[in-house]
Amino acid sequence: MTNQHHFKRGVAAWFAIGISTLIPSFVSAENVHISTPGTSLILDATEGKALRFLYYGDAVSPNEVEAINSAHHSMEAYPVYGLSSSRETAMSVTHPDGNMTLDLVVKAVETIDLDGEKVTAIRLADKYYPFELTVNYLTRPNSEIIETWVEAQNNGKKDITLREYASAYLPIRRGNVHLSSLYGAWGNEGKLCEEALQPGMKVIKNKDGIRNSHTAHSEVMFSLDGKPQENTGRTIGAALCYSGNYCLRIDTDESDYHHFFAGINDDNSAYTLKKGETFATPPLALTYSDEGKGGVSRNFHRWARKYKIAHGEQLRKILLNSWEGVYFDINEEGMAQMMADIASMGGELFVMDDGWFGNKYPRKNDTTSLGDWTVDTTKLPHGINGLLAEAKKNGIGFGIWIEPEMANTVSELYEAHPEYIIKASNREPLKGRGGSQVVLDMSNPKVQDIVFNIVDTLMTKYPEIDYIKWDANACVMNHGSQYLSADNQSHLVVDYHKGLAKTLDRIRAKYPDVIIQACASGGGRANYGILPWFDEFWVSDNTDALQRVYMQWGTSHFFPAVAMASHISAAPNHQTHRTIPIKYRADVAMSGRLGMEIQPKNMTAEEIDFCRNAIANYKKIRPIVQQGDIYRLLSPYDGLGAASLMYVNPDKQNAVFFWWKTETFVNQHVPRITMAGLDPDKMYRVSELNRIDRSALPFEGKKFSGKYLMSNGLEIPLEHNIANRNDYASRVLLLESM
Ligand code: GLA
Repeated sequence: MTNQHHFKRGVAAWFAIGISTLIPSFVSAENVHISTPGTSLILDATEGKALRFLYYGDAVSPNEVEAINSAHHSMEAYPVYGLSSSRETAMSVTHPDGNMTLDLVVKAVETIDLDGEKVTAIRLADKYYPFELTVNYLTRPNSEIIETWVEAQNNGKKDITLREYASAYLPIRRGNVHLSSLYGAWGNEGKLCEEALQPGMKVIKNKDGIRNSHTAHSEVMFSLDGKPQENTGRTIGAALCYSGNYCLRIDTDESDYHHFFAGINDDNSAYTLKKGETFATPPLALTYSDEGKGGVSRNFHRWARKYKIAHGEQLRKILLNSWEGVYFDINEEGMAQMMADIASMGGELFVMDDGWFGNKYPRKNDTTSLGDWTVDTTKLPHGINGLLAEAKKNGIGFGIWIEPEMANTVSELYEAHPEYIIKASNREPLKGRGGSQVVLDMSNPKVQDIVFNIVDTLMTKYPEIDYIKWDANACVMNHGSQYLSADNQSHLVVDYHKGLAKTLDRIRAKYPDVIIQACASGGGRANYGILPWFDEFWVSDNTDALQRVYMQWGTSHFFPAVAMASHISAAPNHQTHRTIPIKYRADVAMSGRLGMEIQPKNMTAEEIDFCRNAIANYKKIRPIVQQGDIYRLLSPYDGLGAASLMYVNPDKQNAVFFWWKTETFVNQHVPRITMAGLDPDKMYRVSELNRIDRSALPFEGKKFSGKYLMSNGLEIPLEHNIANRNDYASRVLLLESM
């Protein structure tokens, strides 16, 4: 598969490339059976009637579908506001004559097959008004994910306003259903929250406008059989693939069902469709597994690596990022020294973070210069070319930080074009970071060109750039577009993300190979709306290894390690001020996409040696961590004194086991960890990586069956046998089958 093809797999782009060139097959069947290898979703799409949802879960055979139709409560597949106005709905509109209701019936079912990617499109039409709604389901080869979204079309002559426009609805049978979701804040992203669903409404939402995963996340899991388990229990996963404001609602009313709705957050975002216009929602990715949360995670990760993350099936380079090492204090000697240091430790890439740009207003701190992406030659007299030459000399790649959607009011860009920023009319702009940061209005095509040109200019001038860290450190502050018409001001936040998507499409069409990290004040852009164009995301600005155990645990529920940038940083840590030994810092970072975020010249010789060895070890386990299946074993959230997870190669030949102590008490009884995901009949040779103990573990070099490791596990000592003891302990074990 070419990269070019890969980037076109985002749903919006997918439609743009040529659905019209394909001949759809029209199906008259009343029962529509959407299937993946292991799951089925069944609908009743009888022509002239409302579309009904019948079943979602374990795969059923086609000859059972008829019986299932008779056995199931049939629910509306996509509830709309109108005839029964007391229930929660997915869509509500206002017609030109003021009528606020919809009454939709099935008109046609079409299936379109494109290289095995199959879209089932169910066309509904209003019984009276010229309004059509298409409910789409997309499945892809070898994937357990069903992506569903709708397209609303105004076939009339006058404007229709969409007041509510969710991507999807799913009824979930009540019983003992638990919800797993992620929440947090800056520096504390991706925390796991698990709760029994109770009567009433549970709402998970975001209204930042730009960054949507600092606080809550738009991905959830429903455990249908009681408390969430890792490897057992029927579990549904849902991920809204969107990078803007979202709203997930779970209404538990008087019926037998939890009613789950997911889509764009329509607060202050009513959307007008003119004559002939269509509005496509972002897709909701659904999956089901009877192997618990772990099964759902593995389904998401496989799909993500293959279809939803740029270069998701490629191994990532080990990098040093300059931010925590030097912050804004960029200069040529400093960059050269960091490049030489990371190269000497076996690293493969150096990334120059914030602080390298600005001429009239040099970027000395966060108060100026965003928008002026020209090299500050007082800091870097030989420019980017000088740095690229230095990287080449050291045999490593070079990456660069930009924040293209933003400006400072102290910048040449803002001086020339104050009309490009987001700002309400007749109001002073509100400013964010540094007291002067403002957001460029991505709904404006001229701004889209500017953002495209930032990347285009860099990549044209310096084609050797390997990696871009694309940051976004502000929210929409005073809602208002200087570009959109007075009537369309409520389109701003939605059109911002449409404009961003268009720009990213252009960038990827021209630069398919460059690695791009999504950073947004840390983990603000961990979502499947942005990842089709991005290779990875920065999990958090908090690099404290102990807190990362919790954040990465939560994040791993939905996102694979290949996309989770995880860096070894300084001790004491710059965010928590906690002093954690280098072994533990490395052992945590190695469970994600390993990098460093540190000033190497401040490290001790022992730390440098340790990291050199750890990087060599990571190269051995990189394919397993970045492309293997995750099995979470002991949750840090259970408070049992340790956390553990492992990655297993799909062929189950090799695995890597991580164990981190999370608290220390004398004579504490930490559970022995039984492993998972191995082949019970294979023999695995165990060897410890990143060893610091004076003597090897008793099982070092020994062989155990997968069966023994999964039913008994290995006894991990609570402490390290070292001279200068401390309260941290962690282990990385490589399991190789013979
Ligand atoms: C944000 C990012 C950091 C760093 C700084 C630079 O906070 O999350 O990693 O790049 O910006 O200003």
